[in-house]
Amino acid sequence: MTVRITRLHAVEILDSRARPTLAVTLTTADGTRVRAGVPAGASTGTREAVELRDGDRSRYGGQGVLGAVGHVNGEIAQALTGRGFASATDVDRALIELDGTGTKSRLGANAVVGVSLAAWRAEAALAGQEVWQHLARVAGTAPRLPVPHFNVVNGGAHAADGLDFQEFMLAPLGAPDLPEAVRAGAEVYARLKARLSAGGHATGLGDEGGFAPALDRPEDVLQLLVDAITDTGRTPGRDGMALALDPAASAFRDAADGLYHVAGDALTGDRLIDRYEEITDRFPVWSLEDGLAEDDWDGWVRLTARLGDRVQVMGDDIFVTDPAVITRAVGGNVANSALIKVNQIGTVTETLDALRVCRDAGYAQMVSHRSGETDDAFVADLAVGSGCGQIKSGAPARGERVAKYNRLIEIADSHPALPFGLAAR
Ligand code: PGA
Ligand code: ZN
Repeated sequence: MTVRITRLHAVEILDSRARPTLAVTLTTADGTRVRAGVPAGASTGTREAVELRDGDRSRYGGQGVLGAVGHVNGEIAQALTGRGFASATDVDRALIELDGTGTKSRLGANAVVGVSLAAWRAEAALAGQEVWQHLARVAGTAPRLPVPHFNVVNGGAHAADGLDFQEFMLAPLGAPDLPEAVRAGAEVYARLKARLSAGGHATGLGDEGGFAPALDRPEDVLQLLVDAITDTGRTPGRDGMALALDPAASAFRDAADGLYHVAGDALTGDRLIDRYEEITDRFPVWSLEDGLAEDDWDGWVRLTARLGDRVQVMGDDIFVTDPAVITRAVGGNVANSALIKVNQIGTVTETLDALRVCRDAGYAQMVSHRSGETDDAFVADLAVGSGCGQIKSGAPARGERVAKYNRLIEIADSHPALPFGLAAR
């Protein structure tokens, strides 16, 4: 199927954090018109593809993206329009070549990913398929509805509370289907809010729609979550509602002393692993993302050896959705699963490569939104099409978060034969 782009247009819009990002519109020769919104992280890995910000302090505090917009409307449009591409993968290859840096830093990963997402959407439309169906066909995967991971308490770089751990998630592993999983997440979220209010805590929200209470010990939050789960009549644990953590540990390791600072304790990597072990003894935590800092590879080997058979040890900042880094990790027994974010690597093609490397190695995968989002729900389709079985898109609240969960509900409704739940590995 030839993708012939006749028009490519970007505009600077706002993301969910009042920061500028790009919306890209792509039109093909047959008149198909698709749109993509570009996400942005706050607790980013240092090796992520480089997004381009204007740095002009007189606009949006330097966060403007007019340079990236200009690249889409100028150089990228010039290079891509009027040409016939055999596939969206070829569009991605052309983008990578045009940028020429390996990190997307010249054109901007935010410009590149916007065009890539739009190209894949256009190719799906040309094939008369839903995006998830198209992705599954190209990748050769069996589609599956993922277990949503609802980030219901926000800390770290996503909130101004005292929590060092960034994300506390509900994982309805025992739900019979996707709509029931969403319902479980929303009902526990409501009970959690009631408990926080009753305990005299503020119920304002962090960047991903989770609560941001003035608590600092992660164990206190986990106990609240278990209580809120029990309030709804559900069973805490893998047969009912499990929990997942993304401490995002790079953010609380002090470069000066090399120690991890958690709720007033200064811990070596090994003592932090002890703490995680205690946490998994006490609470039904089934997945632990970025438990150690991204450059602490030796620590990750020990973390994986110690906890890898009882929890999913997941790499985010350490892997940055880079197939080459994940390949190295597999060889070195680092983690046993990977978080997958399209804008960390910059194109859908490279993201599918990262997913394939994981599948081949028996590493589980979780598709993820970013803390800065738009109403674009591409990641929902990516999670279903890749068949990876897991997604995280923040709380079951705030429009940009529920856009993804609602997209999953609609896919489940229109394709009742799709399986739901974790993928076999
Ligand atoms: P980010 O955080 O989108 O702000 O980078 C998400 C995560 O760490 O998983
Ligand atoms: Zn993370």
